[in-house]
Amino acid sequence: MKWSWLALICVALLLSACGSNTTAASATPEPLQSCSAAQGDAARGEALFAQDVLTYYAGCSTCHMVDNDIMLQGPSLQGVGSVAAGRVAGQDAEQYLCQSILNPNGYLVEGFSASLMPPYYANWLTQQELDDLIAYLVTLE
Ligand code: HEC
Repeated sequence: MKWSWLALICVALLLSACGSNTTAASATPEPLQSCSAAQGDAARGEALFAQDVLTYYAGCSTCHMVDNDIMLQGPSLQGVGSVAAGRVAGQDAEQYLCQSILNPNGYLVEGFSASLMPPYYANWLTQQELDDLIAYLVTLE
């Protein structure tokens, strides 16, 4: 009798632990909304850019070259630090680069269709990683 009560309490504890776990896992983090190159570190950004996998998905360099103008799945980002300022009226280079990661369909580079660039980075990168990437991209001239 004693043991069965104990077993019951254990099961109850397990269930409540599982319950709270599920809640934590399903809570969506707030997507990132802004960038700051000044808070970022270009060297760390370069290393992040070169990773094959970034968080859960293909890294930037699997689709973008930076030191030649060869097109992979995405456009070459050679010189993008300079090009960025003239892309969208009212956005400086930093704002444009920020938006092209957080909201890739907001502006499409000529010749590319929508939704090729993954839209998940706003949820999967940390603010620091995003700022590091921007600090790096603005140096690509
Ligand atoms: C699966 C391929 C793919 C991956 C991975 C990818 N991109 Fe892209 N990216 C694209 C495509 C395609 C475009 C052009 C279409 C568009 O503008 O959304 C693009 C556009 C861009 C642009 C705009 C370039 C310009 O000339 O205006 C920037 C900046 C950029 N990507 C940065 C990144 C960064 C930083 C990462 C990693 C965090 C990344 N991309 C990951 C495919 C990709």
